[in-house]
Amino acid sequence: MIFHEQQLLDKELDPYRVLKKKVGLVPTMGALHEGHLALVKKSVAENEITVVSIFVNPTQFDNSKDLQKYPRTLDEDSKLLRSLNAKILIYAPQPDDLYGNKVVSKRYSFGGLEKQMEGKFRSGHFDGVGTVLNLLFRAIRPDQAYFGEKDFQQLQIVRKLVEIEKLPINIVGCPIYREPHGLAMSSRNKRLSQVEFDKAGFIFETLQWVRSNFSDKSIPELQKIVQQKFKENNYLELEYFEIANIKNLIPAKRKRKRNKYRAFIAAFAGEVRLIDNMALN
Ligand code: PAF
Repeated sequence: MIFHEQQLLDKELDPYRVLKKKVGLVPTMGALHEGHLALVKKSVAENEITVVSIFVNPTQFDNSKDLQKYPRTLDEDSKLLRSLNAKILIYAPQPDDLYGNKVVSKRYSFGGLEKQMEGKFRSGHFDGVGTVLNLLFRAIRPDQAYFGEKDFQQLQIVRKLVEIEKLPINIVGCPIYREPHGLAMSSRNKRLSQVEFDKAGFIFETLQWVRSNFSDKSIPELQKIVQQKFKENNYLELEYFEIANIKNLIPAKRKRKRNKYRAFIAAFAGEVRLIDNMALN
């Protein structure tokens, strides 16, 4: 069932809330793929009812062309969700149903998490993500909300957001879903040409190479080699490569035994910006 208005969705969810039955939420911007479906299936297994929100959130885009070109495929998305034969409600609002008449971001400080990587290259992005999720969380009041680790920085920020906003929601992180050649699944992949799609497997290969060499090489050495690998690649332009502590996301210069690290990449394939990451230890 598709709801475009909070009020109607609320009516549908109320009986579940009254009976203390668990409500799961999978927030998305649509153009659903297998990765999203894995989140939805997990939510269906762990909750009595699942809401999938489909909303291309304008406040998290710093680039109007990217916002304009973001794929919008509501009919296909709802068909896919219906094919799961589960208790799933779709919430696909217009901006004013969520934001009221001012589609603007709240300013957040996520303890510095918002300043690294995506935060450096996409100004205001995490204020937009925090704002829309806060609105969705308050509208839907889920018990649990599901996010993919492809956007690992976002996942850590959402964990901080529920702390800041004092929302009693369990945030569940789920593994990255990949194409057979390793490219992380993303709605943006729909915008890649066949050649770009094929060549973008290089991002995964590079992350795997970093993981295999993480114990033998220093972080500056790994940095240098990865940058060189991208220079030699004619199809992908590296925006950043970082190895960061998973807790604070501060890029590391030296490894410490007690810390856990991930490698993060953002790169352009033509006009399409792709991100990926991998646990290293
Ligand atoms: O990851 C996304 O698709 C978006 O950032 C989210 C979490 C749905 C917020 O708009």
